[in-house]
Amino acid sequence: MEYIQAKKYDFEDINGITLNQLNQHYKLYEGYVSKVNEIWTILDENKLYENPNTTYSKTRSLMLGQSYAVDGVKLHELYFSNLGGGNNMPYGDILNKIQKKYGTYEFFKKRFKNIGLSMRGWVVLSIDSLDDSLHIYGLDAHDVGTVLMSYPLLVMDVYEHAYMIDFGIDRNKYIDVFIDNINWDIVNERFINYKNMNKDFSRKYRSACDEINIDKMYCWADYCKD
Ligand SMILES: [Fe+2]
Repeated sequence: MEYIQAKKYDFEDINGITLNQLNQHYKLYEGYVSKVNEIWTILDENKLYENPNTTYSKTRSLMLGQSYAVDGVKLHELYFSNLGGGNNMPYGDILNKIQKKYGTYEFFKKRFKNIGLSMRGWVVLSIDSLDDSLHIYGLDAHDVGTVLMSYPLLVMDVYEHAYMIDFGIDRNKYIDVFIDNINWDIVNERFINYKNMNKDFSRKYRSACDEINIDKMYCWADYCKD
């Protein structure tokens, strides 16, 4: 059964990464979409698999494959859509937030690149619900290092398959080209989505606190203080 479909991306306005590189990468993404559909079809059979076991069992393989494939789809969609087109220099609210946290955009780029050279899979600039602040997270694989409830704003793939055709092993150069192609319109859009989502959540949470008259000291985050 087909639960999800691969999204289409326009690679024409990406500079410095060839269409061949991008199309090969896209085929890998299609593979993850296809595996999600396959795994969800099996899981929807609604039966219990025998002999659950933490060393090897069918259920264990399905669970691990599911996280890897689902994260693989989401990360690639975030990556392809924040690449190329739009405004390639940061501006607006996201630039203010970056400057507040990292001082300058130049320093942010160095930090982002440094993490990109340190990880095997992904770099994710997120805003985290824990402190409402920016964090650059590094992932060694789609499902290794992923942080729950942090909202991804900018995603960079640093697996070799993302750049090997064009750049060989020169990841340094690839990251520079990636940074020059960041679509900051999309990053800003994601940041606005996060703020709107948080506003709704804050409103709902505050009224829930009022309803149950919870001690403000113990109310999660700062939402109930006023
Ligand atoms: Fe990839």
